[in-house]
Amino acid sequence: MNTVTLFTLLGTLASASPLVPRGVGSCDTAPLSDPPKVSTPSSTLSNLAGWGPYISLESPLCRDTPSGFTIDQVTVLMRHGARGPTASSYPSIKAAVAKAANATVMDSAFDFVKNYSAEGFTADALTDYGRKQMYDAGSTYAKRYKKLVKKYFTRAASQTRVVESGQYFMQGFNGDKFAIKNTTLLPTMDLIINDDGTVNNTLTQVACPGYDDSTDLAAEAETNFNAIWNAPITARLNEKLVGANFTDGDIRQLFTLCGYDGVKNLQYSAGAWCNAFTAAEFEQWEYLYDLSKYWGQSYGSPYRAAMYDGYVNDPSSSAARSTPLSTPTLPHSPLTRPSTWTLLNNDLVSIVTALGLWKDLNPLPTTVSVDAIPNRFFHISRICPFGSRIVFERLSDKKGTKYIRVLINDAVAPLNFPDCGAYSWAGMCELDAFVAAQSYAQSEPKNFNQLCYSAPLNTTVV
Ligand SMILES: *[C@@H]1O[C@H](CO)[C@@H](O)[C@H](O)[C@H]1NC(C)=O
Ligand SMILES: *[C@@H]1O[C@H](CO)[C@@H](O)[C@H](O)[C@H]1NC(C)=O
Ligand SMILES: *[C@@H]1O[C@H](CO)[C@@H](O)[C@H](O)[C@H]1NC(C)=O
Ligand SMILES: *[C@@H]1O[C@H](CO)[C@@H](O)[C@H](O)[C@H]1NC(C)=O
Ligand SMILES: *[C@@H]1O[C@H](CO)[C@@H](O)[C@H](O)[C@H]1NC(C)=O
Ligand SMILES: *[C@@H]1O[C@H](CO)[C@@H](O)[C@H](O)[C@H]1NC(C)=O
Repeated sequence: MNTVTLFTLLGTLASASPLVPRGVGSCDTAPLSDPPKVSTPSSTLSNLAGWGPYISLESPLCRDTPSGFTIDQVTVLMRHGARGPTASSYPSIKAAVAKAANATVMDSAFDFVKNYSAEGFTADALTDYGRKQMYDAGSTYAKRYKKLVKKYFTRAASQTRVVESGQYFMQGFNGDKFAIKNTTLLPTMDLIINDDGTVNNTLTQVACPGYDDSTDLAAEAETNFNAIWNAPITARLNEKLVGANFTDGDIRQLFTLCGYDGVKNLQYSAGAWCNAFTAAEFEQWEYLYDLSKYWGQSYGSPYRAAMYDGYVNDPSSSAARSTPLSTPTLPHSPLTRPSTWTLLNNDLVSIVTALGLWKDLNPLPTTVSVDAIPNRFFHISRICPFGSRIVFERLSDKKGTKYIRVLINDAVAPLNFPDCGAYSWAGMCELDAFVAAQSYAQSEPKNFNQLCYSAPLNTTVV
């Protein structure tokens, strides 16, 4: 049910005793912030796929810097803060809401539709909740790292909401008071990396033609699973709201409103559509997006490692590539780069994949109800909600040996790679071993250029 359990299962660390942390007797494992308070069902926060807010996780391992080690570089990668509906989905959302408002209500639990409004979002833009999320992240990391990190560097992929997310992060990191401002008045990012596909950059997946031309596994997965889960829920709502004549697509849009309403204003406030669906229905809906990402960008895709190689090798390493990606927009080599705060769109799933985390034993099936596959590891709601974050800490011991530690939504991730060294049970992996493990470790053929610039690999979902 929760991520903490999953981390524990993924590692074999449960019985290891913690390293002696800095503060005698302390072991920092508690979530760094409280989840939003909701009066709606638990599904409101735990099954919102990519439409929910970041929730700080309890860590299965001590978060403290172990004594004898110092953090000498930090890389924070974040998805942008909460946003409103995208420009492409907003009209369909409003159309579905209009159908509901027009219907004859057969169940008083649905009376709200007569007075419900989906207005008030700016399509594609951050919401105030999203702005504050980013500000809070900046403050959190300032507390944790400011003393350790003398120089830093900020960069963002070029979409407006991503850049603005970075600016609010900086407002928080700089210790300024939270204020919603015209972006021209906010701190600016050091580097904004164009992600329109005209440059090979390490912050997006755009430059992999082989992937673009291969079978669209995400679409296949969605089509297969939609045939399983969607119709019964559409039928149920058409009975509650007679005359609405909802399509399956309408229903998928109405689910998203549970996410959007929650993050619309500064204070989290779950909206009426959260109560329109049962917890079991939310689970089916989330699984649709789990499948889409799983087959499109994660373990189901033969391109999974190549496309995101840049992410994983970039933050932490000097990764000796045999055939380097050209990364003309990156001004620092990873060895000399100062600590980096990086803002991305929704691609954290790729990094998690390259790290080998939340990997299920068998491929996620697209043609069965979610009930048939309990306890899977791979949940988009845990991997890349709005404001989701992955931190790479580089630590050195007194002899100068360098280690990497990865925190995902504040939980120290177990790193079970070969040769991680004496402290792998504490979530630390020797830098060289980490880099070696990330060098296309999970993909054949192992070469980015070969994979992305040769005939597409047409595979299929299960
Ligand atoms: C609302 O109902 C009226 C009358 O039945 C119909 O003409 C109209 O198209 C409906 N609007 C929507 C959005 O369904
Ligand atoms: C309908 O919405 C308006 C404006 O949001 C609100 O003031 C009113 O109380 C609502 N009425 C009902 C019955 O919920
Ligand atoms: C933000 O400031 C710029 C420059 O002063 C101005 O052109 C723009 O209209 C402002 N935007 C808003 C939404 O006020
Ligand atoms: C990206 O890198 C590949 C392989 O090095 C190269 O063939 C391609 O031209 C590059 N694309 C751009 C837009 O620079
Ligand atoms: C499969 O691969 C071939 C080239 O190897 C390509 O021409 C074709 O479009 C691919 N099919 C699909 C469905 O992507
Ligand atoms: C319901 O919608 C379908 C198309 O989605 C349409 O063919 C059908 O006529 C509609 N039924 C009613 C009663 O409006």
